[in-house]
Amino acid sequence: MQNKSFSSSAASSTPSAQIPLWRQLQGAASLLLAVRDGQSMTAALLDVDATLRPGVQALGFHALRWLGRAEALRQQLAKRPPPPEADALLCVALALAWNEKEALYSTFVLVDQAVEAAKRSEATTHQASFINGCLRRFLRERDALVAKTDANPQAVWNHPQWWIDQVRKDHPEQWQTILRANNAKAPLVLRINKIKTTVDQYIQALAAINIEARAVGEQGVILANAVAVPSLPGYAEGHFSVQDAAAQLAAPLLLSALTTGGPHRILDACAAPGGKTAHLLELLNDNDKVLALDIDARRCERITQNLNRLGLQATIAVGDAAQPDAWWDGQLFDGILLDAPCTASGIVRRHPDVRWLRRPTDIAQLARLQAQLLQTLWPLLKPGGAFVYCTCSVFRAEGDQQIQTFLAHHTDARLMPSPGHLLPQVSLPGAVIPDNLMREHDGFYYALLQKQSA
Ligand SMILES: C[S@@+](CC[C@H](N)C(=O)[O-])C[C@H]1O[C@@H](n2cnc3c(N)ncnc32)[C@H](O)[C@@H]1O
Repeated sequence: MQNKSFSSSAASSTPSAQIPLWRQLQGAASLLLAVRDGQSMTAALLDVDATLRPGVQALGFHALRWLGRAEALRQQLAKRPPPPEADALLCVALALAWNEKEALYSTFVLVDQAVEAAKRSEATTHQASFINGCLRRFLRERDALVAKTDANPQAVWNHPQWWIDQVRKDHPEQWQTILRANNAKAPLVLRINKIKTTVDQYIQALAAINIEARAVGEQGVILANAVAVPSLPGYAEGHFSVQDAAAQLAAPLLLSALTTGGPHRILDACAAPGGKTAHLLELLNDNDKVLALDIDARRCERITQNLNRLGLQATIAVGDAAQPDAWWDGQLFDGILLDAPCTASGIVRRHPDVRWLRRPTDIAQLARLQAQLLQTLWPLLKPGGAFVYCTCSVFRAEGDQQIQTFLAHHTDARLMPSPGHLLPQVSLPGAVIPDNLMREHDGFYYALLQKQSA
């Protein structure tokens, strides 16, 4: 347990100056309110004062990770929820307090500061004594109350019931490992830009400033502790990008299946913010060409920024991949990467809000969009060309079911050896899935398709 004072630097990677914990609790409660209102945590964080943001983000992450437990405890303490603002504050405090082993603050400090937070806001001041009563009772009866919530799967797994059911149906053997991995903290993983340096050299550069790191996969480096990314050596010079180890498989998989000599024309159809575009460019030759397309103009600006930092060049276009007439010059591509929009059910440990934002109907809706994109882009590939379809999802409807349906309707498509469903896992005892070779990555699905020559 860290930081038992009234001021907080919380669990943030860039500790803020002495900011009272009650202010950060207010911020975390406002994040929870926004997520309950359907807004993503990333968007909601932009409304938080910059000085508070690191601490609020750390508390918000923690609260969203343990929200299922917190809501179940709140139900034990008060059958009828208080008004939304007070409920959010109470749930944040319970999420932070319920497990003493993972607690960021002593529970007495936490309760005191949660009540202070309630008193100091107009929206919650009338509920301050109610919050105080609930939290003090929680302190007195903690073990019994937590034991009661153990009967509730949403409390145990900290995911909505429909999500638990879906993961269980899709992965009957591994559903618990997947959900457990989703609740773990994700490490900072870098992809080393091989044009500028090597994995070994970069690990040495980190060791020289006492940052512990190890290699993962071909070009990945996992840091033992999170740090502020721009402060890492070689950031401005483009020595690395931040990218999970599973996401690092996309570019090499596509390029491994190019059968013709260059120069190659590659389409990255859903490219923003450009993580995989950059990786493709780092691996391709100078005379190869990449078209990086995305429907979102603002996100396309991030492709430009990322490529500029890395010293790479692509043609960047704003466009709908499902409407090639608007952006395609009519020349077939040697390779296409479709990193399709999806539920993001594989990256829950990095985005703990995702599980609370999605609705069960999203899976079928996104699967329809993915099918449309696959079907529209396939004709743009040369005979003999390579196509990678991937999603950062663990749901089979967005992975192998999608591809099996596609193959059934496209006799010129051949499924090549592919990673398939990579399930999220963390380097924890009991959380290893034997099929996966890497031991620390998000959930992803990969299919490599080759177009048969006529
Ligand atoms: C999973 S993200 C891509 C991440 C990116 N490949 C990377 O590695 O950094 C999916 C992207 O698809 C884009 N997108 C969604 N629908 C699209 C469409 N119809 N056409 C093109 N891009 C689309 C979104 O704006 C989003 O940037």
